[in-house]
Amino acid sequence: MIRSVLKGTGAALPRNRVSNAQLAERVDTSDEWIVERTGIRFRHIAESDETTGTLATEAARKAIDAAGLVATDIDLIVLATATPDQTFPATATKVQAALGIDDCVAFDVAAVCSGFLYAVQVADAMIRSGVHTRTLVIGSETFSRILDWEDRTTCVLFGDGAGAIVLAAEDSDAEQPRGILATKLHADGRHNDLLYVDGGPSTTGTVGKLRMKGREVFRHAVVNLAAVMNEALAGLDLTADDVDWVVPHQANARILDATARKLNLSPDKVVVTVDQHANTSAASVPLALDTAIRDGRIKPGDLVVLEAMGGGFTWGAAVLRV
Ligand SMILES: CC(C)(COP(=O)(O)OP(=O)(O)OC[C@H]1O[C@@H](n2cnc3c(N)ncnc32)[C@H](O)[C@@H]1OP(=O)(O)O)[C@@H](O)C(=O)NCCC(=O)NCCS
Repeated sequence: MIRSVLKGTGAALPRNRVSNAQLAERVDTSDEWIVERTGIRFRHIAESDETTGTLATEAARKAIDAAGLVATDIDLIVLATATPDQTFPATATKVQAALGIDDCVAFDVAAVCSGFLYAVQVADAMIRSGVHTRTLVIGSETFSRILDWEDRTTCVLFGDGAGAIVLAAEDSDAEQPRGILATKLHADGRHNDLLYVDGGPSTTGTVGKLRMKGREVFRHAVVNLAAVMNEALAGLDLTADDVDWVVPHQANARILDATARKLNLSPDKVVVTVDQHANTSAASVPLALDTAIRDGRIKPGDLVVLEAMGGGFTWGAAVLRV
């Protein structure tokens, strides 16, 4: 049976690392408030020469290196972002050009903070159907460019960055196969107005700024994330006890704690990077995955669950054996 196996990961962060105290110099907030309500201590903010495309390219190069491949081995790039370099062309094609790949399939996926999970399912389906064999799946964002820096209820929560993985086809009949074992995605557009950007090419002709009703998003996030993880595991006859690591979307430490409690999952099994990166939307899951693989926490053979929820709402989970 053909499966999509994780061959390598990479990450990229903007040079400029901003602490809560630095933020409090320009916004009416405090380190205490941000840490207590969110667990966030730092975020990276892109400078003018750093874009979603440049960060994605850097993360992609590292993932390709880690996989022991060269860029021209890649035959598909799926890039998840809500902050593309331009309305079009797709940022995936800019990454393709920067990597020097003359011909492959390259496109963007827009599902906001769940974008990486959506991109993983798309790449996995294309691999298992035999259409592609060596794929780059990227989450990359520069949310700092769509934040309202006058709105303290949102601007303290987000950061910029990119994460990338190489998923490649492997034919295996092993009893405990490696690779993506299951993906589950959902969307419920009735909640568009709880987390959105108030502009766009077809409405205002502007880029717009992020708007959020934080408390309501929080409530939905805990319920949806616990449910979708259970759903993905149940389809494999697994439970939370079988899981070695959860790599969640890094929106808020309190959401991570509440979701782990709902699943009866030890907090020791949850990878947390929100303190260092804040919410990097589609980049947050691959950034956290790369962190935990490179620091040795996640080891070959571990059963890992990825999960995310974002604007739309959209949410999803993926189960993989590393
Ligand atoms: C945004 C969030 C941290 C706010 O926490 P909360 O406990 O719900 O706080 P509230 O919005 O009720 O605000 C409480 C108070 O803090 C104030 N406040 C809001 N932002 C503040 C800030 N950055 N600094 C200081 N005070 C702030 C509010 O004005 C309010 O003051 P008031 O009581 O005098 O009116 C929380 O709702 C959250 O994390 N939601 C989920 C957001 C998320 O993860 N979104 C992305 C999903 S992809």
